[in-house]
Amino acid sequence: MTTTAPMAIGQPTDRVDGRHKVSGTAHYSADYVLDNMSYAFLVGARVASGRITAIDTSEALDCDGVLAVLTHENLPRTAAQPPLIPSLAGMPAPGQTFFPMQDDAVHYTGQPVAVVVADTLERAQHAAALVRVTIDRTPSVTTLDEGRDQVYEPEAIFAGFIPGRNQRGDFRAGLARAEVQIDAAFTYAANNHNPIEPSATTAVWDGDELTLYDATQGVAATQLTVAALLGLTPSKVRVVSHFVGGSFGCKAMIWAHPALSALAARHVGRPVKLALTREQMFTSVGHREEQEQRITLGATHEGRLTALRHHKLSPTSPFDDWAEPSLGVASQIYACPNYEGVYELIRANIMTPTFMRAPGEASGMFALECAMDELAQQLGLDPVELRLRNHTDVDPNTGNPWSSDGFQECLRRGAERFGWQRRNPEPRSHRDGNWLIGYGMAAAGYPVYGPNNPQRARARIYADGSAVVQAATPDFGTGVATVMTQVAADALGIPIERCRFEGGDTMLPTIAAAVGSSGAGMISAAVHTAAGNLRDQLIAQAVADAQSPLHGADPASVTVRGGRMMLRDRPDTGESYSELLHRNFLPDTEAMGTWSPAPQTANYGMMTFGAQFAEVAVDAELGVVRVRRMVGAFAPGRVLNPKTARSQLMGGMIWGLGQALLEANYMDPVRGRWVASSLGDYLIPVNADAPEVDVELIEVEDKIVNPLGVKGVGEVGQVGAAAAIANAIHHATGRRVRKTPITIEDLL
Ligand code: MOS
Repeated sequence: MTTTAPMAIGQPTDRVDGRHKVSGTAHYSADYVLDNMSYAFLVGARVASGRITAIDTSEALDCDGVLAVLTHENLPRTAAQPPLIPSLAGMPAPGQTFFPMQDDAVHYTGQPVAVVVADTLERAQHAAALVRVTIDRTPSVTTLDEGRDQVYEPEAIFAGFIPGRNQRGDFRAGLARAEVQIDAAFTYAANNHNPIEPSATTAVWDGDELTLYDATQGVAATQLTVAALLGLTPSKVRVVSHFVGGSFGCKAMIWAHPALSALAARHVGRPVKLALTREQMFTSVGHREEQEQRITLGATHEGRLTALRHHKLSPTSPFDDWAEPSLGVASQIYACPNYEGVYELIRANIMTPTFMRAPGEASGMFALECAMDELAQQLGLDPVELRLRNHTDVDPNTGNPWSSDGFQECLRRGAERFGWQRRNPEPRSHRDGNWLIGYGMAAAGYPVYGPNNPQRARARIYADGSAVVQAATPDFGTGVATVMTQVAADALGIPIERCRFEGGDTMLPTIAAAVGSSGAGMISAAVHTAAGNLRDQLIAQAVADAQSPLHGADPASVTVRGGRMMLRDRPDTGESYSELLHRNFLPDTEAMGTWSPAPQTANYGMMTFGAQFAEVAVDAELGVVRVRRMVGAFAPGRVLNPKTARSQLMGGMIWGLGQALLEANYMDPVRGRWVASSLGDYLIPVNADAPEVDVELIEVEDKIVNPLGVKGVGEVGQVGAAAAIANAIHHATGRRVRKTPITIEDLL
C-alpha cells in the first residue's frame, strides 16, 4: 500500500462551492424551473385534535389556474405502512411512522389535510385559503403540564434503538455513600429548526420514473422513503440534492412533503414544486421537544462522583416514542460507578419531535454541567478541577477504553486560553461599572457514530490528469464537498485544483445520510479508500506496462505527487497519470472504494471531547445578559480543514448561546398551537448578540475510528455552551436559573 504525504488535508481550504453560493448559481431544490411546472401549497389543520367531518374544495377548484385539490378523500393510500418504511440508511426511521391524508383523523396542528396544485404559486396559495375544512374538535394535550397524569415509561425510544432505562452499578447505594448531594430539575422550551432554506421538493415524472429535487441530508433516505410510500422500486426514484441551505436535523427524517409532491405531480401530469413556507417549517419538519430533566449527583468531599441519576420527561406524538437522547453523553463523560437514566414520555397532540443539532447531547449536558457547577460550589472546588478529578479513561457504560481522548487537554488549554485563573470563585465578585461579570465553564462531548452499512465512493481520473470523486451524500452546508476534495487530492497525489467532488444524487455510490456529525469521518473513509484504490490500480498498471519507466518496479516503492507516479528513492524515474492513460488509449479510469468500520471499533468508546468557557455581563438592574466572550477547546481527532472545522464549532457555540438566552417556542394549550411561527417571534442570535468566539482545535491521534482518524465537529460545539453561559450567569449574579432559555424576567 502506497502512502502519500498530506498536502491538502489540514489546509484551511476555502469552500469549493463558495463561489456558486455567493453568485447565485447554486441551485437549491426549489430553484429548479422545469417546463410546464406547477406549484403545490399545503393546507394544514388549524386545530390539534379531532376528525374532519367535511372538506369543501369547490371554491378552491373554481379558482383560475387550479389543477387539483388533494385531500384524504382522493389521495391514493400509501403502499407501505409503518414500520416498513425505511429511511435513514434503510432502517425504519424514528418519527417516520405517520403519513397524513390517509383518513379523517387530525392529530396535531399543521398536519397536512389538503394539497392545492395550480399553475402559479400565488394561485395555489390563494386557492389553499379557500379550502373549507370542518373539523369536529376533540380535547387535546399539547404541553408537558397538561399531560402530567399520563406519564409512561417507554421500553425504548428512537424506533427501538435506545432503551428507555439505563443502569450501571447501584444508584441508591452510591447515593447512600455520598458525602455531598445535588438534586436539581431543569426545564427547556421547545426549539424549532430554521435553516435559511426552508424544506422543498420539486417532483417530475418521466413515464414511471420519478425524479425528486429535494432538500435533504440523505438522498438515499428520501429515495427509500418515497419509493416505499408510492410502491415503487428504488431504482425508479432518483433524488438530487446538489445544494442544501442548512438543516440542523430537520432534513434528516423524510417528512410528508416529498411524497406528497410526487403524488401531486402524478395526479396533475406535470412537474410539481412544493416548498414549505417559513410558517409551515414550524409544524412540518419536527422540532426539539419541550422537556424537563432532573439530575441527582452524589460525591465524596474530594469531588469524586459516587452516584448519578438522570431523568427526562417530554411530550411525544401520538405515533412514536420519541425523545432526543439526552441521557447519552451525560452518562459517559465522567467516571461514576452508579448510574440510573430514565426516559419518560407523554402522548401529546404534536408532530413527532426530531433531531435538532446536538440532539439530546446539548440538553442533557446542560443539566449535567449546571449540576456539576452547583456541586463544585458546594464542595468549594474549582469547576475545572472537579471535571479533571472525574475524568474517565473508559466509557463507563461499557468499560471499553476511548479510541482517543483529549478531554483533559481541552479543559486545561481552554482554561488557559480563556484566562480562567483570573476568576475569583465568589459569585458577584467581578464588576464592570453597572455590569456584573461572570465566568462559567462546562464540559462538552459528542459521540462518534460509525455506520452500520458499507460506505461507498467512486474515484475517476481523466487522461488530462483531472479527477472526480463521487458519493451520494449532499453537502448541506458543512463543507463536505470541500473536505472530500482535499482527501481525494491527497490520496491520488494530485493538486486540489485538479480534483472535484460530486455528491447529492442517488445515481452516485450510496453512502449514509450526513447525520450525527459523522459526515467527515464516514465520507472521508469511503473517499480515501476509493481514491487510494484508484491510485494503486494506476501504479499496478504502470509497473506492468513495458513502456512505462516504472516497468518491473515493486508497487510499494512507488509514490505519487503532483499527478506523477515515481520511485520513492529516485523521483526522476516515473511518469504522470496522463502519460500512462494516453499511451494506453484510456480516456479515463476509475475505482470504487468501500469502507465499513473495523470490527474492533466495538471494543472502544468513541467520543469527541471539548470544554467550553464563557464570560457574561449582566446588567445589575435590568437583568440584560450580554455574552462577552466564548472560548471552546475541542479534540476532534484529525482536523481535515481547520477553516471549515472552526466554522462548524463557532456555529455550534453561537447556537449554544441561542439555546441559553433566546431560542424558545411554547404551545398555547388552549388553541393547541405554537405561539411562534416566524423569525420575528422565534429568536435566534444575530451578529449583534454574538461575542468574540475563540476556537482551539486540539488534534489527537485516533487509529480506531476510521482511516484518517476523524471524529467530527458538526455538533460538539453546541454541547456545554449553554451550560457555560448559565454557570457564568450564576457566577455574575449568584442566581441559579435552571431553565433554557434564561430571560430577563428570570434575573430581575
Ligand atoms: Mo444532526 S441533528 O444529527 O441531523
